[in-house]
Order: sequence, then structure tokens, then C-alpha cells
Amino acid sequence: MALQLGDEAPDFTAETTEGSVHFHTWLGTSWGVLFSHPRDFTPVCTTELGRVAALKPEFDKRNVKVIGLSVDPLGSHKEWANDIKETQGHALNFPLIGDPDKKVANLYGMIHPNASDTATVRSVFVIGPDKKIKLTLTYPASTGRNLDEILRVIDSLQLTAKHKVATPVDWKQGGDVIIVPSVSDGDAKQMFPQGWKTLRPYLRVVSQPK
Ligand code: BEZ
Repeated sequence: MALQLGDEAPDFTAETTEGSVHFHTWLGTSWGVLFSHPRDFTPVCTTELGRVAALKPEFDKRNVKVIGLSVDPLGSHKEWANDIKETQGHALNFPLIGDPDKKVANLYGMIHPNASDTATVRSVFVIGPDKKIKLTLTYPASTGRNLDEILRVIDSLQLTAKHKVATPVDWKQGGDVIIVPSVSDGDAKQMFPQGWKTLRPYLRVVSQPK
């Protein structure tokens, strides 16, 4: 069965462009993003990896470790890294797993045979400090991901892990949030002493907690 939200992220040991990684140990107490891309030396993947490298300070700020994967071998990753640096202006600054035997790809269900039986789709797994899967995304090979959206989701996940709130449609860091329905008005008074706006009894809007 496919990995689902709340499942433990499978542990593995893999060779990467930054040496051998024992996944859970490498994650430590950080959040993690594990993402796959179809192949090395492909155009969309080249842009994605350059963008992840450019955004590394944003991931660091959020205490998130990022690790990529493709089923090509490490030698290929290392050669391709030059192209990423030259064309995207950002050198790889996070590990890229070489997975030619598809061990990790199969563990995470990153190969969707009806899309391609040889290459991984564009999977994203966001993993919490408890090693549980908090978010999964699957994009086809032909559509590059939106890295700003991945950061936005991480902001929501980290906020909602800490406070009894949920984030509404198109929410962005700093925007109003919603008090979760399981919190009574009495408890909400303690949690949100600044008050909130009740649009419906189940729709209570409050400014984002600090
Ligand atoms: C790409 O990364 O550009 C790509 C990879 C596989 C199929 C189509 C595009």
C-alpha cells in the first residue's frame, strides 16, 4: 500500500553525493524533505535542483533538511552537478541519492509503472521531527514543482503542529488562520486572548499566533 500521512517514513541507508546517509540518523531532530526527480541530465529536473539549492537558506531557517533522489548512479549525479551550477547559478548544496537499484524509490513508491516503469515520478515527502510523513505530493515528469508552495506548506505544517489552528485557502506566512473546531470558545479565550472573528460557529478567524 502507498505510504500515507501519519505513517513512519521508511528508514534506509543510501549513497549520496555527500557520502553515505542513514536516513533517520541524518534527519536527527530536523524536519525533512525527500524528493525524487525522473532522471539526470533532463531539463525540468535541472531547473528544480537549481531552485532547491537557491532556497537552501529558507529550508535551513525552518530547520528542514532536504535530500533529492534519482535512479541514476552517483557518477552521473556528480557530472550533472556541473550543469546545474553553470545553467542555474547555484551549485548543489544538499545530498542527492544515487539509486540505480531503485531500493529507496521502491520503498517510497516513487515509481508509478503506468507513468514510467524505469524513472521516478516527482514525489515529495515532508517528514516531521517524529519521522512521520506530514505531506505527500506527486507531480508528473513534465511538470516542475513549485518550490514556494513547498515552503508555504512547511510553514503551515510547522505552525499547526504548535498551535490549535488550521490555515485557510491560499494562506501565507503572517496571514489570518482558523481556530480548529475541536477547541471550545472557552478554551479559545485562553489560547487567543486577543479575540477572534466568528463568521460561523465552526469558522473562527484569528490572527496568526507568534
Ligand atoms: C525533465 O526533467 O525535463 C523531464 C524528465 C522526464 C520527462 C520529461 C521531462
